This record gives sequence, C-alpha cells and structure tokens, in this order.
Amino acid sequence: MGERSRVVVLRELLPAGQELLAARFETDSLGLDATREQMLAAAAGADALVTDLTFAVDGELLDAAGSQLKVVANFGVGYDNVDLAACAEREVVVTNTPDALTNATAELALTLAMAAARDLSGAEKDLREGSWQGWDPARWRGFELSGATIGVVGAGRIGGRFMELVAGLGGERLYTARQPKPELELKLGAERVHLDDLLRRSDLVSLHLPGTPETRHLIDERALGLMKPTAVLVNTGRGTLVDSKALIRALDEGRLGAAGLDVFEGEPDLDPGFLSAPRVALAPHIGSATFRARDEMSRLVAANVIAVLDGREPPNPVTRAKK
Ligand code: GLV
Repeated sequence: MGERSRVVVLRELLPAGQELLAARFETDSLGLDATREQMLAAAAGADALVTDLTFAVDGELLDAAGSQLKVVANFGVGYDNVDLAACAEREVVVTNTPDALTNATAELALTLAMAAARDLSGAEKDLREGSWQGWDPARWRGFELSGATIGVVGAGRIGGRFMELVAGLGGERLYTARQPKPELELKLGAERVHLDDLLRRSDLVSLHLPGTPETRHLIDERALGLMKPTAVLVNTGRGTLVDSKALIRALDEGRLGAAGLDVFEGEPDLDPGFLSAPRVALAPHIGSATFRARDEMSRLVAANVIAVLDGREPPNPVTRAKK
C-alpha cells in the first residue's frame, strides 16, 4: 500500500476531506449526478471507496471494485445503505462519521420541533402567498414546549444532545435506549421508560434511531394511536422509522398535533400527502448540514481512508474486518 493507492469518491466529498486524500492518493470523484453504471465502472481497481447514504453499497458494487478493496468510508453517521455482511465477507472495513454531526442534528431536531409546534411552515406559506390578512387573535395558534414532557426515542449521541438542548424548557424528560444512560438520568433527571409509556406521556416525541429492519415503522398506526392528539412528532433519524401513510392520516384527521420531518421513506421522493397535511415542518435531510459539521465529517472520511490504507485501525470503524 502507499502513495499510489486509488481512492474513488463515488459522489462528492467536500474540499476539507478531498484535499487530504488528493495529497496522498490517486483520487477520482464522480460528482452528485453519478449513475449506478458510472459508479460500478469507476469503482474497478479502487483500494478505497467513499460512499454516502443515497446509494446502496452491496455485493455488486464491492465485486465491481475488486478484491484489492480495503475500505468503504461512508460519509455520514448512518450506514443503513451499506451491506455490512457483504463487506465482512470480502474483508472490507466499513467506517462512518459519528460525533462530528451530533450537535448539528440535535439542533435541527429542536428547530423542527419548534417550527412544527408553531406551524411555522404553514404560517410562512400564508405570508409568501400573499394571503395574510393581518393580525388575527385566533389564527396560527400552536403549542408551547416549555413545561412539556419530552420523549427521546433512542438516547444515543444525538438523542442525548437533543435532551441537553431541551433541558432548559423544564418539564419531564423521558427516553428509550437499549442500556440505561446514568449521565442523562443524573444530569438531566431523565427517566428511562418503555416506548409505549413514552408515547402516551410525551408532548414532544423526537426519534433518534438508526434505520434497521427492527426499527422499520416503529411509529405506525398503533404507536400514533398511543400519542396525545396535541403531541408533536419529530424525525431526524431515518424515514423508515415512521409509517408515512399512517402519519399523514393522523395529521389529516387531527389525531396528532404536528410533525417536524427531516427524513423520508424513499427520499428524495416524498409522499405528496406530506405537502398537503396540516401542521408539518419539512426539511430535505439537512440534519448534519452545517459548515462545521460537514467539513468535519469530510475530514473524518479522509482520516478513516488514510488510516486503513496505511494499515492502521481507522478512527471510526463500523466493522473491523481488516485485510
Ligand atoms: C445522515 O443522515 C447521516 O447518517 O449522517
């Protein structure tokens, strides 16, 4: 291994990381519009692939790269787009970019929670369309989050940071997690509960879980039925966590207070029902989209690639199957 290793960025890495790679390796970057066919062709002979959540990293792509491939460095914390078993079979290390985006994503969850609770998107649309008739005592009333019971589903890094951010609002804090989180309990007075309990008691429910077969449609018709009719649901995790049709029905029928969504099933195509449903704040998967987070994520991608190609343990291994 060494200076002539070949790194293929299958879409795009920001200059903060790209420059680190270009200084050491032969690099190729396909750009945002790369087709699957172009990716398969360009991957051939790569020692490292830089990938992202918008496309599948599967056996087909790994085989197109060839047996010299050592690392798949995914630009993002989630890796539901990567077939980990296929990578392990081929002894390809998989890495991700945790921590760098924790605060940015938690801040977006709070932004969406506030925006949804006050129906900011609906109110702004009114203004932009020129239909505002002036100050109105009854129109555009929403929910206040101060004193609310706030439920964090999946109190990992991002969920934990979100809980810190909302601590100043007072009220109760509930969470679900596989393991108890003593620091959240001691510092923030959070209580670990079962999901159904959290859904029944919370005024705001924020989802911070990865997209896996187990978490698919965790929030379905039944779960939505447990929630308060005034509750706000926020999803900055993965679109698959929520049954879109069930959520749209709950909003349309006034069975849920509001929703703030950054991620969608089948994105970038989103269910058109979200565009017409009332009291929804929408964002196009921008949880980590701050200058600081995206630059740091790009540097982490490069650091992971460099470590593996230098024969070292990468800073952010998802799987450790090293050649
Ligand atoms: C974005 O969704 C990520 O997983 O980083």
